[in-house]
Amino acid sequence: MNILITGSNGQLGTEMRTLSAEHPKHQYFFTDVIAADGVQTLDITDKTAVSAFVQTHAIDLIVNCAAYTNVDKAEEDEATAMKINADALSVLGSQGVKVIHVSTDYVFSGDEHKPCKESDPVAPRTVYGRTKYEGEKRLLAVCPDAVILRTAWLYSPYGNNFVKTMIRLGKEKDKLGVVFDQIGTPTYAADLAWAIFTVIESPVWHPGIYHFTNEGVCSWYDFTIAILSLAGITKCPVSPISSEEYVYKTPRPHYSVLDKSKFKKTFGVTIPYWLDGLQRCMEKLKVEN
Ligand SMILES: NC(=O)c1ccc[n+]([C@@H]2O[C@H](COP(=O)([O-])OP(=O)(O)OC[C@H]3O[C@@H](n4cnc5c(N)ncnc54)[C@H](OP(=O)(O)O)[C@@H]3O)[C@@H](O)[C@H]2O)c1
Repeated sequence: MNILITGSNGQLGTEMRTLSAEHPKHQYFFTDVIAADGVQTLDITDKTAVSAFVQTHAIDLIVNCAAYTNVDKAEEDEATAMKINADALSVLGSQGVKVIHVSTDYVFSGDEHKPCKESDPVAPRTVYGRTKYEGEKRLLAVCPDAVILRTAWLYSPYGNNFVKTMIRLGKEKDKLGVVFDQIGTPTYAADLAWAIFTVIESPVWHPGIYHFTNEGVCSWYDFTIAILSLAGITKCPVSPISSEEYVYKTPRPHYSVLDKSKFKKTFGVTIPYWLDGLQRCMEKLKVEN
């Protein structure tokens, strides 16, 4: 297959580039809004450019890793977030090719205290969540056999993410307070890329919405303790604080655990535990720094 991967400079896109080496039977076209080494320019909001790219390279499948992911900035720039997270999905979905798209736990309110299933009602509380949900709808309206993977708490050795922020703060500060009453599942972007290749390599195309994160649950406090411990940072004690003690610009879900039963059953896979994913990411970070 000829596979177009958008957002290839991002966390997930970078892991897709790495993992593609293990799937050499396909031809890959890595793109992003800004070109980089091995990455061509393609703005997913540019309908003419997307259509021309798909036709020129006889694309069979689009994997959309591009998104507007800054949750706080989205509150102030809804128009841009909507353009990238929603409008562009009509463009990608109307090319007459298969599409795998990535969405978020932010489509849910986060008020429930049980893992969310794909069939549970959505109730986004933020501009980011609303634009991502709108993107799901726009994609399915024009491409009903698309695959959508909703994920959460994504991190990797690349770009800006919680793991890298906590390592930096752990080195800079003499103590840290981190919220203990928001529960979710950290997801290593390499494991999400593996899930995407599981979908690609499946002998049968199984359209629909799926939830995919690593296994297990923890709070941001637990996650931080694990990060600092694996990084060997011992001189920065971490205290648990409540969400009320931490001032957020944008509301954060209290409970955003996703139920992954549908993905596991459909594709017959076992998903790595979140701490296992974190250990592999930390190994890679140590090698690269
Ligand atoms: N990060 C998380 O915690 C999280 C949680 C749940 C779900 N997700 C979802 O997971 C997916 C992957 O996230 P990620 O963390 O890998 O995102 P990321 O690191 O922010 O990467 C997104 C990439 O898309 C690019 N992009 C932005 N606008 C574009 C456009 N118009 N055309 C083409 N490329 C464009 C970005 O470029 P610039 O950086 O130059 O803008 C960036 O390289 C997204 O769908 C995201 O919504 C993420």
